[in-house]
Amino acid sequence: MTQPSSVIQSWLDKRHNLFIGGQWRPAASGQTLDVYNPATAEVISRVPAGDATDIDAAVAAAREAFNSWRRSRPSQREKLLLDLADALEDRADDFALLETLDNGKPVTFSRQMDMNLAIDFIRYTAGWATKIEGRSMTPSMPFVPDDKQIVAYTRREPVGVVGAIIPWNFPLLMAVWKVAPALAAGCSIILKPAEDTPLSALLLAELAEQVGLPAGTFNVVTGLGHTAGAALAGHPGINKVAFTGSTPVGKLIGHAAMENMTRTTLELGGKSPVMVLADADIEAAAAGAAQAIFFNQGQVCTAGSRIYVHETIHDIFVAKLADQARGLTLAPGWETTSTLGPLVSAKQQRRVLDYIDQARSDGGTIITGGGKGIETGYFVEPTVISGLAQGSRCVQEEIFGPVVVVQTFRELDELVELANDSPYGLAASIWSNDLSAVNRLVPEIEAGSVWVNGHNLLDASMPFGGFKQSGIGRELSDCPIEHYTEQKSVVMIV
Ligand code: NAI
Ligand code: MG
Repeated sequence: MTQPSSVIQSWLDKRHNLFIGGQWRPAASGQTLDVYNPATAEVISRVPAGDATDIDAAVAAAREAFNSWRRSRPSQREKLLLDLADALEDRADDFALLETLDNGKPVTFSRQMDMNLAIDFIRYTAGWATKIEGRSMTPSMPFVPDDKQIVAYTRREPVGVVGAIIPWNFPLLMAVWKVAPALAAGCSIILKPAEDTPLSALLLAELAEQVGLPAGTFNVVTGLGHTAGAALAGHPGINKVAFTGSTPVGKLIGHAAMENMTRTTLELGGKSPVMVLADADIEAAAAGAAQAIFFNQGQVCTAGSRIYVHETIHDIFVAKLADQARGLTLAPGWETTSTLGPLVSAKQQRRVLDYIDQARSDGGTIITGGGKGIETGYFVEPTVISGLAQGSRCVQEEIFGPVVVVQTFRELDELVELANDSPYGLAASIWSNDLSAVNRLVPEIEAGSVWVNGHNLLDASMPFGGFKQSGIGRELSDCPIEHYTEQKSVVMIV
């Protein structure tokens, strides 16, 4: 294996603690969780197994911090977030390698995508701290004497203490998607990273301390989902829970939050269709469709996991897509030639291989891939499957791996029906230059994002989230201001 820099190696080796109220401390239980490198299946580090007791302590610390943080100057919050982005940029190479060792993703991508997107997003969001506004109104209330005036306006106030529970596919990026807007709005936050990838959140907490975020405004509790995660989601002392992960867990969290009327945003699963129309540039569509599914080993909520290609171009498209898949370099993420790393865990590898077996028994044809490719670690080959029925499990369920199913369509109406025949509605892409067809499709597709001649075209300025069972609420753009603040209506008679 590559040698992580000595800085990272000694960081991995050290005894990690929870970050609560500006203090580093072990889990109250004294228990730890092993952290695996998915390319070697070796334990590379240990983190505290926080549970309900630690969550109680973190909520208490965050509540106390909130009392002054909510009154802080917006420009101070903006400056602290910009400092955090700078600190992250200074350590970007370390973070990228850490992310690769923990999650498995190719280091070229963790550096270019995860890190750059995280840094840019913090900077974008820092600016919102100073741009939170209310409105003034002119009400017509009865019984107000004519010699009196009504003054009415709204103000936005931070919602309070936020609990953030995030997945393992983009550990740092998902952390900053929650942490930056919460802090910008004047909320304090407790972050519970995924047990499979807890490391970058702890390093982020070190930077938060270094740039001087006030103690208790940003807390990190590592631990399991059904202990630390469940305790956080159902805690009466938090005001908002922000979750990204699977739809079943999203439902559990939604139920738990509702007990306390905790505000909730949920970014959940997807089964995003890639629609290749008859006029498409087949070469570009095949390359784009390959990226749409194989990027991040297919562990992307917006992964283009169902392809609907016009029947007249099916064979040539599938041949080109398979070429793209075969052109990928399956290798440990730290090798700079790697374009496809291992999946995050043995559990995910098993799950994805089981889906491929299911496709075989449902009569699908494995055009390419279908196996592990590399025996050590949690690898799965890029896999293209055709010949499955719309109702089959691999077409309907989120696989979350480098596995794509290709089907055909004839008419646009039929395409709309097939694309929308899913419990999910996160994203979709259309490959065509036929303006009329594209513009007929866009309003019909049940998805929070629709991309044309591209896929995964995310940006800090564009709202992001799902229709149907892909979630509730939107992240990015100005949407978090809505979710991390409460509106207060103020009316005075003067
Ligand atoms: P998961 O939804 O269980 O994990 C996401 C986060 O939720 C983790 O931090 C976990 O600790 C936490 N969590 C788990 N159970 C919890 C509970 N009862 N209460 C509170 N928090 C809880 O996802 P998992 O099991 O790692 O992956 C399974 C499948 O979920 C994947 O194969 C994929 O289909 C889907 N998934 C989707 C993601 C997305 O971004 N759409 C991200 C991760 C997983
Ligand atoms: Mg790991």
